[in-house]
Amino acid sequence: MKIAVVGTGYVGLVTGTCFAETGNIVTCVDIDQEKIKKLSSGQITMYEPGLENLFLRNQKEGRLMFTQSLSDAINGAEIIFLALPTPPGEDGAADLKYILGVAEDLGKLIKPTDYKVIIDKSTVPVGTAEKVKNVILQSSAKVLDVGKNLSNAFDVVSNPEFLREGVAVEDFMKPDRVVIGTKSPRAIKIMNELYAPFVRQGNPIIFMDEQSAELTKYAANAFLAVKISFMNEIAQMCERLGADVDMVRKGIGSDERIGKRFLFPGIGYGGSCFPKDVQALAKSADEVDYDFQILDAVMKVNKEQKLHLIPKINSFYSNNLSGKHFAIWGLAFKPNTDDVREAPAFVIIDELLNAGATVSVFDPEAMKNTEYVYGNKITFAQNQYDALRNADALIIATEWNEFRTPDFEKISAALKSNAIFDGRNLFENSQMENLGFHYESVGRKAITTLRK
Ligand SMILES: NC(=O)c1ccc[n+]([C@@H]2O[C@H](COP(=O)([O-])OP(=O)(O)OC[C@H]3O[C@@H](n4cnc5c(N)ncnc54)[C@H](O)[C@@H]3O)[C@@H](O)[C@H]2O)c1
Repeated sequence: MKIAVVGTGYVGLVTGTCFAETGNIVTCVDIDQEKIKKLSSGQITMYEPGLENLFLRNQKEGRLMFTQSLSDAINGAEIIFLALPTPPGEDGAADLKYILGVAEDLGKLIKPTDYKVIIDKSTVPVGTAEKVKNVILQSSAKVLDVGKNLSNAFDVVSNPEFLREGVAVEDFMKPDRVVIGTKSPRAIKIMNELYAPFVRQGNPIIFMDEQSAELTKYAANAFLAVKISFMNEIAQMCERLGADVDMVRKGIGSDERIGKRFLFPGIGYGGSCFPKDVQALAKSADEVDYDFQILDAVMKVNKEQKLHLIPKINSFYSNNLSGKHFAIWGLAFKPNTDDVREAPAFVIIDELLNAGATVSVFDPEAMKNTEYVYGNKITFAQNQYDALRNADALIIATEWNEFRTPDFEKISAALKSNAIFDGRNLFENSQMENLGFHYESVGRKAITTLRK
């Protein structure tokens, strides 16, 4: 099948590459000239495990192309994916200007005799498929001859994306489920064919109406944000009551109704999805006069959780961070990505700089994206140990695997205060106690042994 993917960011590039991998001819289009230039010349524009190989192979085989022209991209393509940004507007609602702008352009390009399925992969509020359809019809009416229209020339389908950054290729190639919102038999047939190679193990393609598909995506992300925030609140209780959140996590996670995943406490969720999607769902609720109380609590809990380590650090240094130097390991909002959008590490950096401290950072993939934000306000280290040079303490903000079993001798020798503030609970308390660190984490007893 011939496919156009509009928007070549995280979702668009993974979508385009994975559909090319199953033999389709894919053209990805983006308005970002630099991005298209790089991709066209075989340079990948983001870090995502496993993606580069697929990208290079399919590009070489002529199944994956890049262009800046929407018209070229959709020419001959029966399938058009929209993988466009839906950032929060000023009021917190999803801003649909990118999606509706492209819908307007599509209305002028689609021909009445040339059927297309337009598939919305972006995360959008309920009613967006209907809006896209209306904008296309209205825009086409401006260019079509009298008596002609596009009413039988296209269907708009909602196909929310559930991939997780860091394991996006795996998630896309073997999805737990594919959700498709459409009532059009023609679109259903095409979507079934398109996704068949991805569900060979028997995972379901769930067909539903457009509205339910649109809400499913928000419900999924909001539920996960609730789960994380709930555990973060349990961690707060553990610290106050002397319980150990790791034990509580294992104790509840073995209950099948609860499940083991998404129960790890930490310094809050970030990224390009959960924060904006929780906010957008709350706004959608407002618009239909429903007070979605859990969501307000989740947003509040998460904002506070990002600051969780700060009072601990302040207290350790008697509320005087001026002149102190901190090493931070981990900048990306989670491991295996270079995405720093809404990253908890940035909240910590801001707090430390405001308090008069200085900061050295290291992240295996997110250094460049962090440099765009902080420039020379912080020091960018060559590796995780280089970040420790002249540092008073180490702060861990992202749970990269390579931070899990570090050389503690090296850490101890470098740190002036021998203190580690761990926002991701990477190490065991007993181990830290034996090694003589001052060690504070999330939802567990503080280890206050001091060797220096
Ligand atoms: N990133 C994720 O993990 C993830 C997962 C599931 C769903 N989503 C949703 O998917 C959507 C896209 O997210 P993303 O992370 O890929 O965004 P992104 O910002 O990484 O990429 C969006 C791309 O669209 C391009 N673009 C903007 N206007 C355009 C236009 N008129 N024509 C062509 N290209 C245009 C931008 O230049 C950018 O490259 C959002 O709604 C997001 O919520 C994201």
